[in-house]
Amino acid sequence: MANEKNGWTRRQFALSLGAAVLAAGCESKRRASEARRFPSTFRWGCGSSAFQVEGALDVDGRGESIWDVFAKQKGHIKDGSTPSLTCNSYYRYKEDAALISAANLNSYKFSISWPRLFPTGSGSLNERGMDYYDRLTDALLQRHITPYVTLFHWDLPQRLYELGGWTSRDTGERFADYAVAITRRLGDRLKNFITLNEPNVHLLLGHVIGNHAPGLHNGKLIGPVTHQLNLAQGRAIQAMRALRNDLTIGVGLALAPVRPEGGRIHLLNDIAALAFDEIWSGAFLDPLLKGKYPVALHQMLADVVQTGDMSTIHQGCDFIGVNYYSPTYLKADFSGPSFLGPGGTPAGVTQDASGREIDPSGLQEVLDRLTKDYGALRLIVTENGCSDPLGDHAAIINDEFRIHYLSAHLRAVIQAIDNGSRVEGFFVWSLLDNWEWDSGFTSKYGLVAQNVDTGERTPKKSYAWFADIAETGLLPA
Ligand code: FCB
Repeated sequence: MANEKNGWTRRQFALSLGAAVLAAGCESKRRASEARRFPSTFRWGCGSSAFQVEGALDVDGRGESIWDVFAKQKGHIKDGSTPSLTCNSYYRYKEDAALISAANLNSYKFSISWPRLFPTGSGSLNERGMDYYDRLTDALLQRHITPYVTLFHWDLPQRLYELGGWTSRDTGERFADYAVAITRRLGDRLKNFITLNEPNVHLLLGHVIGNHAPGLHNGKLIGPVTHQLNLAQGRAIQAMRALRNDLTIGVGLALAPVRPEGGRIHLLNDIAALAFDEIWSGAFLDPLLKGKYPVALHQMLADVVQTGDMSTIHQGCDFIGVNYYSPTYLKADFSGPSFLGPGGTPAGVTQDASGREIDPSGLQEVLDRLTKDYGALRLIVTENGCSDPLGDHAAIINDEFRIHYLSAHLRAVIQAIDNGSRVEGFFVWSLLDNWEWDSGFTSKYGLVAQNVDTGERTPKKSYAWFADIAETGLLPA
């Protein structure tokens, strides 16, 4: 039958469709095997957090955080180490800035320690603590490195924890005061903020599983802690925007596809995975961007949400920071009250040197999905990287495995950009081998090795590799 419009037969039509499909297939193969260029405006960076790198815990009036207390308790940290010195960045920040600059990176993500600024979480500002961040900011700007500043990377002032921590509405008020103090003093130079780093991880590991500070094991806290974190963020964003209109404010979330153990045909596990996804990602994204909580949270929040809270939380933001390492697996587990349990990783998956699954498609999936579910939001991969093999041994300087890992994830970013996501940057976790929470010094993520005894910094092979990419914007085939 002839097509009336242009006189094509059905056969001609089928042939040309087949040719188009083939061409598209070849095109995507060609793209996968060729060098790819990132936009010239791309943010190339690396990251750190205050408690993991600063040291100087008892210096210049700093107060205690929940991690100070947690780390001192026996059995909490794998190697029994303390972060009293770690990378000593409180004193060596200029050297850090020089390393970032020599790697051609235009951005650096660091966090401010709340108890350095407000030793008990409230009251008057500790100026000497603020002075450190003033010096650090200037050291970065002098080298044309744009700071991305996390306000909360898990080191809650211990006193606020004693007063109720993230179950108390007051903690959110104090968080907004702290954000205001930073904006007032440094907002002329600091323009890019991440409100909370991985509130989902802080909630789950700190309050339910208990292997992170404050070390609680209480599933009933999921609702209250989620809500107070969201409320704190909403208040802080409102207060910061009221002070300045030139800030770029985002949130940093640990995002990963949640997959059912055994695959989608395992119905109960699939339901468990969908529910966990809502608690893990939706519980933080939906209220901020849509003004409501996903259904899985409704019951847990019944007595927590007060009138007006949702509009305080529903602030929107300028970008979403995606921290991605590997997918998560879930299964239905009827032995506990939540019916959710960690699922096993499928047999035979590729693993990184520390035993984590390597699946760059998970990063692409997260980026594609954010764009689909929340509109054309600006996205930044604010953390991605891999550890050396776990254990108490020297850093691996010839870290080919890290190059392989990062390269595959950068390719996933390119793919997401091709699919229409507005990904504006990629930050490697981490600049330095540092104190990795409950793993102490047994887990090393740095582009640069750091000798804990001498403080000596030694760039690894991946450092030079990443420096080339950041300089040229070109990901080799
Ligand atoms: C992320 C944390 C960061 C570091 C990396 C490995 O979850 O934000 O501090 O621990 O994992």
